[in-house]
Amino acid sequence: MKYEGKAKRVYATAEPGEYIVEYKDDATAFNAQKRGSWVGKGATNNAITAHLYPQLEAAGVPTHFVRRLSDTEQLVKAVTIVPVEVIVRNVAAGSFSKRLGIEEGTPLTHPVVEYCYKSDALGDPLINTDTALSLGWATEPQLLRIRELALKIRGFLTPYFEQRGVRLIDFKLEFGTLPDGTVVLADEISPDTCRFWDAQTNEKMDKDRFRRDLGGIEDAYAEMLRRVTTEV
Ligand code: C5P
Repeated sequence: MKYEGKAKRVYATAEPGEYIVEYKDDATAFNAQKRGSWVGKGATNNAITAHLYPQLEAAGVPTHFVRRLSDTEQLVKAVTIVPVEVIVRNVAAGSFSKRLGIEEGTPLTHPVVEYCYKSDALGDPLINTDTALSLGWATEPQLLRIRELALKIRGFLTPYFEQRGVRLIDFKLEFGTLPDGTVVLADEISPDTCRFWDAQTNEKMDKDRFRRDLGGIEDAYAEMLRRVTTEV
C-alpha cells in the first residue's frame, strides 16, 4: 500500500507506472470530524468514475484512469498528485455560500474556479495560484493547464448531467503529473466530490445527504449511478 486516504487506498503494482486504487465504503465530512460508512459506496463511486473518465479522455481531457478491475478497484497511471484541490462552481452552495453570504442555489453568471491546499491537517484552506506557484506545488504552465482542463471538464459534465435530469452545482478535481510533467486528471468524480441536484425537484443526490443528515444516502448514490450510466 502506497497511501491510504479517507475514501480510497492506493497500491503499487508490479508495473512501476501503474497503481491500483481501491474505493472504500467509508465516508468522512468536515475534515473527518464526521465519519460514516455504507455498503456499496465504494463500488458506486468506482463505477461512476470508471464510466466518466474514458468519456472525458475522448473529449480531450487526459486522465490517470486505465481500466476498472473489480467492483471496488481500478487501475490508474502512477502520478504525482499536485497538492491543490480545484473546485468549479456553476451555482452558489456550500463553503462559497457561507463565505460570501450568497444564498445556496443562486446561479453564477460565470463559472468560478477555486483552489485549496490539499492538507487534512489544515482543513484544505483556500489559496490562489500565486500561492501554489511560490510554494513550488506546480509550475505556471501546469497551473494554466489545470484551469484550462477544469473548465473543459465543466464543459463536458454540465450538459452530460443536464441530459440525465441532474443539475451539476459544483465539483472538486485533483490533478497529477506524469514523469514527463504532463498534467492529467486524477482522483474521482462521484457524489462524494460533486453536488448534484435533481433537475425537477432540486433534491440533493450527493454527499450533502450525509453531511447534513438528510437520510436516503444509499438510494441517492444508486440513483446517480443509474443516471450517469443512462444512454441518452
Ligand atoms: O464545501 P465546498 O462548498 O467548498 O465544496 C465544493 C465542492 O467540492 C462540493 O461538491 C464538495 O463535495 C467538493 N469537495 C470535495 N472535497 C473537499 C472539499 C470539497 O470533494 N475536501
